[in-house]
Amino acid sequence: MSTKFVLSSFEINEIENQKKYYENYRAITIEALKIVQKQRGWVSDQAVIEISKILNISPSDIESVATFYSQIYRQPVGRNIIRYCDSVVCYLTGYQEITKVLENILSIKTGDTTLDNRFTLLPVCCLGNCDKSPTIMINEDLYSKLTPESIPNLLDSYK
Ligand code: FES
Repeated sequence: MSTKFVLSSFEINEIENQKKYYENYRAITIEALKIVQKQRGWVSDQAVIEISKILNISPSDIESVATFYSQIYRQPVGRNIIRYCDSVVCYLTGYQEITKVLENILSIKTGDTTLDNRFTLLPVCCLGNCDKSPTIMINEDLYSKLTPESIPNLLDSYK
């Protein structure tokens, strides 16, 4: 028998608390998604439905915001998130080689999480670091002018 999904009272209170600041609850959507993600690491379909009930907004509207923001995860992710820039300047400076090395070392494809839950690999639009490309972020750390050779050591520093 499956248990009914519920947001914690902390999550509900945090979201309800946001209502004080906005007349239009749509403005709270991204904040509500962040609140849930902070507690759970990602935002499930059931969480989207529960947020929609609190904000009185359709689940599909919540879903479209969640999908738009690349920093909201709609499936479980690893302990460390690698985001590689696949925009034009990083393309010209060879992000594909970096990605290939990442996929080989981690034995995953873009969008996947390693079996040990250590890394998730995701593409992202321009990281605003074009003059130092190719660029990746691991969690909140930005890495510039990467070479394929630099990747193994870089990964070693994340457990
Ligand atoms: S194009 Fe990659 S950081 Fe801007």
